[in-house]
Amino acid sequence: MSLRIENWGFSTGRDGSLQVGGLSAVELARRFGTPLHVVDEAGLRGRARSIRRAFQAAYPGRVSVHYALKCNSVPAVVQMALTEGLRPEVTTLYEWTLSEHLGVSPPEIIVNGPHKGALLSRAIEARAGLVVIDGFQELVRAEELAAGHGRSPRVLLRVNPDCVPRGMNQSTATGSRRGSVFGFDLSSGEIEQALAWFTQPRRLKFVGLHCHIGTGIRDRRDYVKPLRRLLNCAASAQRYGLSVGVLDIGGGFGVPTSRELTTLEFLRYQATGHLPSPPRPDRFPSHDQFARTVAETIVRGCQHHRLPLPTLVLEPGRSVVSQAGVLLVTVGAIKSRPGVGTWAIADGAAGTVAFPLFYEYHEVFLCRDPHGERRCCYTLVGAACHSADWIYRRKRMPRLRVGDVLAICDAGAYFTVQECNFGFPRPAIVAARDANARVLRRRQTFADMVRLDADGPWHDNRPATASRAEEVSEEISEEVSHAY
Ligand SMILES: Cc1ncc(COP(=O)(O)O)c(C=O)c1O
Repeated sequence: MSLRIENWGFSTGRDGSLQVGGLSAVELARRFGTPLHVVDEAGLRGRARSIRRAFQAAYPGRVSVHYALKCNSVPAVVQMALTEGLRPEVTTLYEWTLSEHLGVSPPEIIVNGPHKGALLSRAIEARAGLVVIDGFQELVRAEELAAGHGRSPRVLLRVNPDCVPRGMNQSTATGSRRGSVFGFDLSSGEIEQALAWFTQPRRLKFVGLHCHIGTGIRDRRDYVKPLRRLLNCAASAQRYGLSVGVLDIGGGFGVPTSRELTTLEFLRYQATGHLPSPPRPDRFPSHDQFARTVAETIVRGCQHHRLPLPTLVLEPGRSVVSQAGVLLVTVGAIKSRPGVGTWAIADGAAGTVAFPLFYEYHEVFLCRDPHGERRCCYTLVGAACHSADWIYRRKRMPRLRVGDVLAICDAGAYFTVQECNFGFPRPAIVAARDANARVLRRRQTFADMVRLDADGPWHDNRPATASRAEEVSEEISEEVSHAY
């Protein structure tokens, strides 16, 4: 079964070409240049609302949904999630500062991460809503900081439930005790020790538990085991006289149209170019179904352990933004080698703009004919002079021409946050909505790329802030842009 653009909520124009947010992808590429990120704003907002409403409807207690900024921290994208009623979950000082700049007050923010560094102090001093404590050293450090700042922060303990969702690798399952660094270990009794620590008078205020088991989860039953384990911990907490008022189950909800490759698929694909099959959207659970499974598991667990219903906190990232992002690239050259195959070389690929192409399935469409019959086989690569810069090995596509624009789908999650320059400027980002385009980030110029390189001819021996960089930039970036 192959994926169709309707699976993302996209459509075609009169000429049969791909439209995102009511605008032709080919036109957007022409107007803003490629590589180009396009955000389907209505799609993003709709999914943010859908996930919030699904959990509010399914869970009988209070629900608070926090957008995981690590997934896509483009300020305008974060702002879209915030205006749809999501609050921030941050793991770095950058994400914290960005949230504050976007007008969020600290009590709305959840602070997470395995080592928060300066963020921990900032969060405690500024009275963050919840601080998720990841280990013993951090527990002690947070207590010292709380005393130093004269605060009593509300904290959650992150539990490592030792669960690996189906199809996931141990090293990517963030709830695996062997494969991941996160949280207090359940099996060795660390979590019990951490709970016992709170039986002494402390400045830190224990309010609940947290876990996050991985990203891109496709089977809602994968939430059941970790949640049961989390509720067992809540029952233990009660025995220590601590009440779990908040249960934060992290994020991790997958999307119908993209998926992580299994270890075997990944190895086979790398070794032989055997392309894994696309995900099946018809088998993918809706937000409502995810919400029902989570809610039922918590309600039953609370009844079983005689616990009051906690506030349910979620931290989705991918499920909010993934499908709303499309990365447009232009085919610059096509090269055939007799008896071997054909390469289409685009102006951006995994090495330059889209790291997740290495380990996830992402559908690619020919924008001028997205429903065109996929009769030809191409290896789609990028323009970086490096073998790691590829989009797809042996991908069936309609016949391609130089100048064709390709749309790489599900580019909204973990793309821009992991992009690198690799000799090229970072692409622009535009939002498309109701047939209007809005620039969210302009394309990097030469001046942007050398701004931090303090010692260079563009500074003309004047301070790094001198406008010489801008002057040189204008001259060179003109050339550079035309070269792509
Ligand atoms: C603690 C935590 N919360 C939330 C998320 C967001 O996950 P997702 O984008 O899969 O929803 C992550 C992702 O790694 C995470 O580590």
